[in-house]
Amino acid sequence: MNRPKVARPETGVGTGPSSRATIAILDFGSQYTQLIARRVRESRVYCEIFPHDVTRAELDARGVIGVILSGGPASVYEPGAPGIDPAILDGTLPVLGVCYGMQLMAHVLGGDVVAEGKREYGPATVEIGEHGGIFEGLGKAERAWMSHGDTVRKPPAGFVTLARTSTVPVAAMSDGRTRYAVQFHPEVAHTPHGAEILRNFLYRVCGARGDWTPAAFVEEAVAELRARIGDRHAICALSGGVDSAVAATLVARAIGDRLTCVFVDTGLLRANEAEEVVATFGPRLRLIHVDAADRFLGKLAGVDDPERKRAIIGEEFVRCFEEQASRVGEVDLLVQGTIYPDVIESRSRDSKTSARIKTHHNVGGLPEVMSLEVVEPLRRLFKDEVRRVGAELGIPEDILWRHPFPGPGLAVRVIGPIDRERLDTLRRADAIFIEELRAADLYRGVAQAFAVLTPVRSVGVQGDYRTYGALLALRAVTTEDFMTADWARLPYDLLERVSARIVNEVPGVNRVVYDISSKPPSTIEWE
Ligand code: XMP
Repeated sequence: MNRPKVARPETGVGTGPSSRATIAILDFGSQYTQLIARRVRESRVYCEIFPHDVTRAELDARGVIGVILSGGPASVYEPGAPGIDPAILDGTLPVLGVCYGMQLMAHVLGGDVVAEGKREYGPATVEIGEHGGIFEGLGKAERAWMSHGDTVRKPPAGFVTLARTSTVPVAAMSDGRTRYAVQFHPEVAHTPHGAEILRNFLYRVCGARGDWTPAAFVEEAVAELRARIGDRHAICALSGGVDSAVAATLVARAIGDRLTCVFVDTGLLRANEAEEVVATFGPRLRLIHVDAADRFLGKLAGVDDPERKRAIIGEEFVRCFEEQASRVGEVDLLVQGTIYPDVIESRSRDSKTSARIKTHHNVGGLPEVMSLEVVEPLRRLFKDEVRRVGAELGIPEDILWRHPFPGPGLAVRVIGPIDRERLDTLRRADAIFIEELRAADLYRGVAQAFAVLTPVRSVGVQGDYRTYGALLALRAVTTEDFMTADWARLPYDLLERVSARIVNEVPGVNRVVYDISSKPPSTIEWE
């Protein structure tokens, strides 16, 4: 599958530790490029994804100690196939080619690559003939995941074949020193010992030290933020979510009271959320708590169109935030909790010509309207790393592991027009669902779980009375990236408990249903 190209990483303070020994992952358009990066980071080695046409000089300037060439959908023989600066392959820099990366390496260095005209997908058994190097400690035969078109028939001069499969004569090759390549995908879970192969490359071939730890990140980021911000003042919108919480805490560690955080209570938050945010961050940060519920609910009265709701909330949020900023006085910088997947995907989102499914309003509108310099201290971290950094900074687990929550909050979970009463009904039902999920120890096992209040009313019987009450839906999904999702197979007895408690404890609700739709064709939220 093809993915649009990644943005060229910027250099300079605030964009990541540029002096750190770095592994460069060159992106040739594989759907697995991000996965390679995550595996490398999991091995405690810092890495960044670069466009495939990055030059050797650029890599040298960034302190790159080794390169991984990703897979990709192209054939090396295709016109316009993505290429590589040959200086990267001159043997003086450790390089691991994966799939297309291997074919390209072979092609550039004069090996024999055949265009098969068809792709081979699926599991294969790789027979390893030469151990040592990237295969140190592995067995004679290893399961591996194949997904490739071209194959290498003969390695380039100076290279030997390290492994084969029943259909692929050169499943891995090397010059025995710095250059290695594999036809299969070590980054995917279907290659059980893939992580070891990558670790061997990082530690044995590149000489990585495994010093990419949350503590090291915090230390460097704090020093960098101090140097960049100097004695200027910053402001940050705290949403209660993980990313903004970690970004704000990190910046506060660097500049203390010169960071002001603004927490806007839109009246659309979950049960006790505002209280928790204030109790957790009030003592740690200079925090302004704005109770703007009347304002938001006033503007939303009678509005039932989801996109109108989003537009109103986005606009009102920016207004609230600006008002607070102007009260703080002189502010020069805006702190945002942007994380690495946002950075990687932003180019593709910007250039998307396809139909817009939903407008996602967070504080995304802020930088454009506020002409402040933006500081994004997490823009090189994956979500799991953000959580580990948060733990290092002493942020409570409950906040770090909280499910994502949409910027427009409960406004998109009360279907149709919103009022305080309906919000309150939803909040109570949602709290019961989450409480029971936690009690069953399943909260972390699902990516997102919540209740939705529908405008449907149905007949019921409670005691000896007929009721005509609201229909409430429960939604729980499992997903890696929120782009696709599956409904969570929650145990029936848990669903039964939740349903019984909701109809008994939440006035006005007499029927509970469980949403068993996947994304696509449904979305995670109902609006
Ligand atoms: P959908 O419903 O599009 O949601 O499958 C995917 C993820 O995005 C969240 N979401 C939003 N987040 N503003 C946000 O900040 C929004 O308007 C918005 N709409 C959906 C949703 O909760 C899920 O995690």
